Amino acid sequence: MTVGSVAVRTFESRRPETTTETQPAYAMAPFNDNDLQDGQFYDPDAEYEPDPEYAATLAPDAARQRRERVGPTGRPLPYFPIPNPLNNHGPAKIIAMCNQKGGVGKTTSTINLGAALAEYGRRVLLVDFDPQGALSVGLGVNPMELDITVYNLLMERGLAADECLLKTAVPGMDLLPSNIDLSAAEVQLVSEVARESSLQRALKPLMADYDYIVIDCQPSLGLLTVNALTAAHSVIVPLECEFFALRGVALLTETIEKVRERLNPELELDGILATMYDSRTVHSREVLARVVEAFDEHVFHTVIGRTVRFPETTVAGEPITTYASNSVGAAAYRQLAREVLARCHAE
Ligand SMILES: Nc1ncnc2c1ncn2[C@@H]1O[C@H](COP(=O)(O)OP(=O)(O)O)[C@@H](O)[C@H]1O
Ligand SMILES: [Mg+2]
Repeated sequence: MTVGSVAVRTFESRRPETTTETQPAYAMAPFNDNDLQDGQFYDPDAEYEPDPEYAATLAPDAARQRRERVGPTGRPLPYFPIPNPLNNHGPAKIIAMCNQKGGVGKTTSTINLGAALAEYGRRVLLVDFDPQGALSVGLGVNPMELDITVYNLLMERGLAADECLLKTAVPGMDLLPSNIDLSAAEVQLVSEVARESSLQRALKPLMADYDYIVIDCQPSLGLLTVNALTAAHSVIVPLECEFFALRGVALLTETIEKVRERLNPELELDGILATMYDSRTVHSREVLARVVEAFDEHVFHTVIGRTVRFPETTVAGEPITTYASNSVGAAAYRQLAREVLARCHAE
């Protein structure tokens, strides 16, 4: 059954597992959802669609993982509570979704993390900072038809930020769109004063209105990406679980380090997000193990599995949380949102 957007199971069905004394404390963590009736409890696993074949792409032995609460990264999976609703919004935490490699899941993660945060009542602004405009397309916007985009906000000083904003179909989530115009900014910004902090300056007036601003970076480490890193409080690096995933990550962390030293001392690496994981393939498991070995606690516990549902959502122009609300993919991004909230804020 469903209470709000949260799937619940009756107490009886899980009683033997949840009341044993050996159960780790986090599995018993109290939910703060007053909607639940007596005899019911919040069960994060109940959000997953009963599709054993796809579930197997995340965990070779899903039942064992649940029992032992070991996540796909091989570490104990903490309990990420349902976040409390907020009465006041802002100031925003700005996250840059960054990897100079293309096709690793930056845009997909921006849309779906944003939509999941919005579902939890956070006010979210997504910034399309790739001249290809894939984020805008993924939210059903045709970037070629737009006269005013993030490019104008960067280059025209007098322009009010809300003239560029678009509302998305997801309540509480707005978009700063972009199109090919933005590619000119890369060249034009070079001669500007404080060229690395143009985006930071442009986003400043918007910070009070949002809880999270997520910037979808272009696949390069050029001036636009440096602008995103300068504006951001933290970085999420999506990594596709394929061979060569780690190639180039050293250059990326070096860039993050340089931006921290010279431009933005507050910048933190929030985490490495493993995407397109398929536990049935040996190399996917090996890559994930190597990523965990290299980055340890910087790797998100949440791992995004590979599913054709994600390409489908791009065609549909909406997040997976609305397109296939009960899918494993939607549940994964909801868990990521809870993990981000738990990591970022003692809120
Ligand atoms: N978890 C996933 N499983 C399967 N396909 C995915 C997944 N995440 C993203 N994709 C697909 O991979 C392609 C590249 O993803 P995208 O988010 O656009 O990457 P980037 O923004 O890093 O270039 C897109 O077609 C997208 O639909
Ligand atoms: Mg992209």
